[in-house]
Amino acid sequence: MIEASAPSKVIIVGEHFVVKGQPAIAAALDVRSKARIEENLKGIIIRSINLNFEVMIPMELSGSLPKEAEPFRRILKTMSERYGKLRPAKITLESEIPVGSGMGSSASTFAAFTAAYSKYLGVELSLDEVNEIVYEAECVVHGKPSGIDNTIVTYGGVIAYRKGEGFLRLNVKINQDYAWLVADTGVRRSTGDLVRRVLDLYDKYEEVLMPLYHAAGHLAIEAAKALEQGDYEKLGELMNINQGMLEAIGVSTLQISEIVYKAKEAGALGAKLTGAGGGGAVLILAKRGDLNEVEEAIKPYTAKIFKTRIAHTGIRVKEFNER
Ligand code: MEV
Repeated sequence: MIEASAPSKVIIVGEHFVVKGQPAIAAALDVRSKARIEENLKGIIIRSINLNFEVMIPMELSGSLPKEAEPFRRILKTMSERYGKLRPAKITLESEIPVGSGMGSSASTFAAFTAAYSKYLGVELSLDEVNEIVYEAECVVHGKPSGIDNTIVTYGGVIAYRKGEGFLRLNVKINQDYAWLVADTGVRRSTGDLVRRVLDLYDKYEEVLMPLYHAAGHLAIEAAKALEQGDYEKLGELMNINQGMLEAIGVSTLQISEIVYKAKEAGALGAKLTGAGGGGAVLILAKRGDLNEVEEAIKPYTAKIFKTRIAHTGIRVKEFNER
């Protein structure tokens, strides 16, 4: 049996602005998705525990399939074209990441699937190849994403990302006096729809929004420096400015604002939506000593709170013999 996993992600600063070519900063988190592969003779069966579906994709990859199966068909098609083979299998997908929460559940699941299935085929894929294949699957779900989600879940760590240029791994100065919280609003939304809405707003008010986009790019560069210098007070301020910018482009919500303000009132240094917004998750940076108070303050407004660490490795693959 083969099992692969990939982390979830948070965007520390720069979501949406990254879609138009500005730099953004993302971190991988140790809340993971898994793909488990077992031998099977009938076809390629994909079972998602979280989405509660099971489909059989025929070996010739043809025919009509439920929407949820399309990104997997795309991955299998690329593999079959590039590596000239497919094998029947049963692939079970399971994730700790809430779906549609802004924490990269789709990219993470596709990355785990791609890594596990390529291992099962006996094809050694580089991380760059996995990343490319996952990007294609992300396009099936989200339209034309920037590529930041597939990149961070594949490589792990903390990265500065710029569309078209790729990524730079940041050498983050960890300071145990500070900690992250991710608060899930419990409101599910579509990244593709939100991205399209923001792009329409940009087209309508290009002269007004262009300077904001440039400012967001500068902000991401300052945030990268703050992370490398271990200046978490500064990083918190930059996150708060970024939240204001995201509010300006219309992707925050009342519930997000409530979490942001309650967190800051309880001593958080920075709080902002993370991912596409419109619901989803809020990223909070606080001094470790203030963490409990922040958590208590935001609890009434959240569905779930993740106290998690940065995942320094992205994809992991294990192979074991069943007894
Ligand atoms: C989604 O995690 C981040 C967005 O910037 C979309 C993208 O980068 O493709 C909202």
